[in-house]
Amino acid sequence: MTIDFKSYKPADTQLMIIPVYEGCELGPKAQKLDLQLGNVLKERMRNKTKFNANTGQSLHISVDPVHGMQDIVLLGMGKPQDLTEQSVRQLSGSIKNMISSVGESKVTFLADMVDRQKYKGKTLKNEELAAHMMDGYAASTYAFTKYKTKPLAAGANDNENEPRVTAIVDDVLGAELLYAPLKAVTDSANWARDLGNEPPNKLTPMAYAKRIEEEFDNVPNVKIKKLDENDMADLGMGGILAVAQGSTMNPPRIVIVEYDGTGGLNDRPLALVGKGVTFDTGGNNLKPGGSMANMKTDMCGSAAVVGAMRALATTQAQTKAVAIVGLTENMMDGNAYRPSDIITMMNGKTVEIGNTDAEGRLVLGDCMTYIQREYNPHTVLDFATLTGAMVAALADVYTGVFSNDDDLWQKLDAAGKQSQEENWRMPVLHAAFSNAMKGKDADLSNTGSMAGAGASTAAAFLHEFIEDAPDGSARAWAHLDIAGTSRKGGNVSGVGVRMTQKFVSNDIEEKQKVAAPKKSRGGFHMS
Ligand code: BES
Ligand code: MG
Ligand code: ZN
Repeated sequence: MTIDFKSYKPADTQLMIIPVYEGCELGPKAQKLDLQLGNVLKERMRNKTKFNANTGQSLHISVDPVHGMQDIVLLGMGKPQDLTEQSVRQLSGSIKNMISSVGESKVTFLADMVDRQKYKGKTLKNEELAAHMMDGYAASTYAFTKYKTKPLAAGANDNENEPRVTAIVDDVLGAELLYAPLKAVTDSANWARDLGNEPPNKLTPMAYAKRIEEEFDNVPNVKIKKLDENDMADLGMGGILAVAQGSTMNPPRIVIVEYDGTGGLNDRPLALVGKGVTFDTGGNNLKPGGSMANMKTDMCGSAAVVGAMRALATTQAQTKAVAIVGLTENMMDGNAYRPSDIITMMNGKTVEIGNTDAEGRLVLGDCMTYIQREYNPHTVLDFATLTGAMVAALADVYTGVFSNDDDLWQKLDAAGKQSQEENWRMPVLHAAFSNAMKGKDADLSNTGSMAGAGASTAAAFLHEFIEDAPDGSARAWAHLDIAGTSRKGGNVSGVGVRMTQKFVSNDIEEKQKVAAPKKSRGGFHMS
């Protein structure tokens, strides 16, 4: 797939997509083209009484090849003043559908908004329309084909029918400048999806750690640290080590990704924590077959976190962030941990194992302690495919968010809506949930005594690992249970990357506003 921006229509265009706005209003470029075509566009729209250019409607028109293309598709965009980054991304999916249904591979999109003045500047600019349309299209073409062997047809040229989508826009440079950071974020979300799709025999904790290291190699302002099982033992990380005990072949790893885009300011960082269970059998509390089916994606929290770091680093966001991912399998073996075992976590708390399948919280607990003690973050966000109860409650519609901080929740809510990775707030601080996680013979139990509310009791367990800052101030924390949203419609979604990038770029924008209150940047904000 190739995506480019040009100020003219490429000669080999097979299909041109032209946006049309509610009431069949055309932009200035489309009007000009319609004149050249003898008003065929307006006429066809008049004849098709059902076509009103509502959002997502389309109208196919064959054109005499003397006009330098074969087909035109009029794409309904709805009200011009209602178009947003999100709605354009959604509409972009239709480009993909047209390419596959019509079978054309050289497609052109005319980035042609209606006259902005008529709408008092309250519409997107052509460059914005072009950039977001192309980004949405690029994201919609994701496929995981790495392990499919190529068709062996002699002389077949793979590139021959590769789709090429060109956006026609006057300000090519402007569109390209807007597109570059969008592409960086999409590439990062796609990297997270790749990691989620990797099979567990390929993405072992060691292989995963190596992959993270390689991805950030030579990315400016990034430092990587790795901890192996001996380091974990030295640090007293009894949680992740207990989970890893049944893995005789594949020892655990912890990877820390530091990013400083502030040029060395003394700011406290944002911390991201990710559950990276590369395969969850349940351990001695073995999962039944059906429940184990998708457990290679039990590392999607960690993929969200390293994907978000990649997005921040490749856009060189002016912020400080640090991520930690706990990578391990949860296997059955003679050496595996058992129900009733009592372990000691890095923060000194003892945990009685009620069920070896409640392993994610043990991995996260140690990672949370480590990152708070080493980096003193102002905020901790943890991402995890933590509970089946979360899937039961919210399916793949919302990520469940448990937070001790209302302001942090508001920001996550906003970023979720902007990135179309929506969040739903869940309860966290009710004493009933934390009381239920008290152990009988140890401080805590990893399953607790409450029947039901499994997502909330898991969050209450994690809360035990959030520490006040050394100056006594409370630390803002949110736990995002992505057990449901890590897959959308059965496919690995890369959830968390876009949302976190938005969350951070909103924050940077907010700080810049405070620093320079008169400077309004308007339009789309990417950092
Ligand atoms: N990885 C699972 C949670 C999960 C379930 C993720 C379904 C995605 C889809 C987690 O480790 C787990 O097994 N949780 C248990 C906890 C229980 C034993 C307290 C669960 O939710 O059943
Ligand atoms: Mg489990
Ligand atoms: Zn798990």
